[in-house]
Amino acid sequence: MSLDGLNAVVFGGCGGIGIAIGQRLLQEGVKKLFILDVAELSDANLARLREHSRDAQLLCKACDVSNRTELKQILEKDVLEALGCVDILVNSAGIVEDEVPDKVIAVNLTGVINSCLIALTKMSRANGGKGGVIVNVASIAGLEPVTFLPTYCATKHGIVGFTRSLGVQPVFNETGVKFITICPGGTRTPMFQNCKILYTEVKVLQKMFQELKRYKPQSPDAVADCVIQAILKGENGSTWICNDGEISVHSFPQSKYL
Ligand SMILES: NC(=O)c1ccc[n+]([C@@H]2O[C@H](COP(=O)([O-])OP(=O)(O)OC[C@H]3O[C@@H](n4cnc5c(N)ncnc54)[C@H](O)[C@@H]3O)[C@@H](O)[C@H]2O)c1
Repeated sequence: MSLDGLNAVVFGGCGGIGIAIGQRLLQEGVKKLFILDVAELSDANLARLREHSRDAQLLCKACDVSNRTELKQILEKDVLEALGCVDILVNSAGIVEDEVPDKVIAVNLTGVINSCLIALTKMSRANGGKGGVIVNVASIAGLEPVTFLPTYCATKHGIVGFTRSLGVQPVFNETGVKFITICPGGTRTPMFQNCKILYTEVKVLQKMFQELKRYKPQSPDAVADCVIQAILKGENGSTWICNDGEISVHSFPQSKYL
């Protein structure tokens, strides 16, 4: 598979990992890149993208993934009018503010679910779409417990379960859409630096959180490389880990129900 001439949408595309993914998609020949984020694309990040865009078209619009009405309107109208069709959708928007659990769930989990379901309807071959790939950025916290970030951890486990549930052959046969999960380890981005943990009287959680600060995070470019590899050669429903700069495919026990 080549990404040459394809159209891509990146939610959370102004973030540390989102920008790195945008750059790599452009390097691979993506022709139109639509970035959706609550934050504005800074001049510095726009310049980083332009370095790789050659003659590609860059679009950017404010979008809050936790607002379903806004999300649907933007995906179904703005994005489709600008791109015609979506070949690659990356959900990388996320927050780590465990002191406000409802907000973390709304952005990290409900936002990703709504984005996938709305996009799937439009991308599906059954509805006249061309099919494509949806990549959801979860986390190592989607595979392992993280004691001081229990809500964040729950949302990331949710993304893994949701993505694997849709990443099955019968769904692909009908829609032509492949689903992939990416699980990065600690990555050097604003999120990693500004992480806010669950407000709690449980002192040991504070202590464990302090220990995290000794951890040396990987580069966002490593995560972007993992995303590109997964798009190019990942099996439908596969879960990819990118930790300490190393990329691997995670294996789960065989499902009893599929
Ligand atoms: N940085 C890490 O250590 C790490 C590790 C594992 C997984 N992740 C995941 O990677 C993804 C990207 O995170 P990052 O490290 O680049 O962080 P980041 O804070 O640099 O980027 C996150 C982006 O999401 C955007 N965003 C936040 N709320 C939003 C909303 N409601 N609607 C739309 N956009 C919204 C932010 O504005 C920001 O641009 C997240 O899903 C995160 O959970 C990060």
